Amino acid sequence: MNESIGFIGGGNMAEAIIGGLKKIDKDINIRVTNRTNHERLQHLVDKYGIKATALQELVDNSSVLIIAVKPKDVHEVLKHLKNYSLQDKLIISIAAGISLKVFHKSLPGVAIVRAMPNTSTAVLQSMTGLVRGETIAPDQAEIAEQIFSAIGRILWIPEEKMNALIALSGSGPAYFYLFTESLIRAGVQLGLSEEEAEMLARETLVGAGKMLTESEKSPAKLREEVTSPNGTTYAALRVFSEEKLPQIVMKAAQACARRAGDMEGEYSE
Ligand SMILES: NC(=O)c1ccc[n+]([C@@H]2O[C@H](COP(=O)([O-])OP(=O)(O)OC[C@H]3O[C@@H](n4cnc5c(N)ncnc54)[C@H](OP(=O)(O)O)[C@@H]3O)[C@@H](O)[C@H]2O)c1
Repeated sequence: MNESIGFIGGGNMAEAIIGGLKKIDKDINIRVTNRTNHERLQHLVDKYGIKATALQELVDNSSVLIIAVKPKDVHEVLKHLKNYSLQDKLIISIAAGISLKVFHKSLPGVAIVRAMPNTSTAVLQSMTGLVRGETIAPDQAEIAEQIFSAIGRILWIPEEKMNALIALSGSGPAYFYLFTESLIRAGVQLGLSEEEAEMLARETLVGAGKMLTESEKSPAKLREEVTSPNGTTYAALRVFSEEKLPQIVMKAAQACARRAGDMEGEYSE
């Protein structure tokens, strides 16, 4: 990748993206800055061979700036960025709950993409939603695509779909972890050791995930194919249905999207 990338914020998400980018291009030029945690920066420098710099140097030497701070800290970062010329830069924000209008208001005319990756970035399997800012040119959109395609799959969406996307792919990994945890507990209750149950549950999720990615069949078709009438899977699925799993998932996703909307309101000023 030809771009030099500057991360403002060097926390968990920044590290996941840096790790992914370094896996596909070990020579990629990356700088990082944070607020106060020097040890953390040193860890990133030692592990990924990137440069830790002050904000000024980072902005001067990066064509792409990725804002990877907590939503509550975005306004402070924008206050600092106002002091720099950002004309030729592409800014990418991964902060949840901060809408494009916040950036357009603080940094008028700046090229901005809003991105919502998920934590599977660390294994190059992030499902990332991307939203174009007002002034994004096709070549800038392509740079954002390149960065996030390097760490998984991407989907461009209009901003009004962002909260729905957060409810699926943003928070989704945790739903599957919870299901896996529950299956492990069930396995132990059925007489397996914790270790056995964990291996069976984890690998089953990985295999099912691969089937979903590699098969052209719909999830419903895949499910039907492994469910013989009155068989073992059928017995389990009947319980999910009786206990209203689809409705529970619906309610959980709605709660997530609602919270994302509330956060957008909280951070809009
Ligand atoms: N977790 C997810 O699945 C996920 C998915 C999509 C998007 N996100 C978003 O990713 C963003 C980062 O999350 P995270 O979990 O990586 O957070 P994190 O681990 O808490 O890291 C935040 C980083 O921001 C730095 N920072 C804070 N204020 C700063 C400032 N004024 N200037 C420069 N750096 C500053 C912190 O530095 P210090 O340590 O020195 O204070 C720290 O390095 C959040 O906005 C979150 O919404 C997360």
